[in-house]
Amino acid sequence: MFKSAILGCRGRARGHARAYEHVKRGKIAAICDLNEELLNSFGEEFGIQKRYTDIHEMLDKERPDLLHIVTAPLMRDTLEPLRYPLLDIASEHEVPGAIVEKPVAVKAEDWRDLLALSKRQPDGACLEYPDERRSAPDAREHRGDS
Ligand SMILES: NC(=O)c1ccc[n+]([C@@H]2O[C@H](COP(=O)([O-])OP(=O)(O)OC[C@H]3O[C@@H](n4cnc5c(N)ncnc54)[C@H](O)[C@@H]3O)[C@@H](O)[C@H]2O)c1
Repeated sequence: MFKSAILGCRGRARGHARAYEHVKRGKIAAICDLNEELLNSFGEEFGIQKRYTDIHEMLDKERPDLLHIVTAPLMRDTLEPLRYPLLDIASEHEVPGAIVEKPVAVKAEDWRDLLALSKRQPDGACLEYPDERRSAPDAREHRGDS
């Protein structure tokens, strides 16, 4: 049975949690959000007892096999970028896999940082994403596709 953890307990995280009704070989072991009220209401709704406000503490104590990063690419109030810092933390804690909500990146710089991070992984992490704008001319240009 693999252990999952969810980071971010707002609206979209409910879809991620409900998906586990259909998952036979995995379970949600822990959740994390900076906002304690959201964290607790989400935990109560899905019966998850292990709740954290600090991602480092959750990853240290729970050692999940899979981390769901269920946030927007930018913090909504401060517009602080989230994807690269959160995936870098996951990498630092040697989390084997992550599922990231869409959109994965909002700027070409974000995408380049993520690609560089994937190349720094010792066992060749795979960064793959389904994106409806994958074939858009600007996305192709940033990837260097002809
Ligand atoms: N809400 C939906 O129905 C829906 C549907 C489809 C796609 N999406 C996409 O899903 C993504 C997430 O949307 P949302 O509305 O669920 O979430 P959101 O981005 O509004 O909230 C993210 C949560 O993550 C927490 N968080 C951020 N950084 C953290 C950190 N370092 N440690 C702990 N907690 C942290 C925040 O406190 C916040 O509660 C968005 O990109 C959105 O476009 C949402």
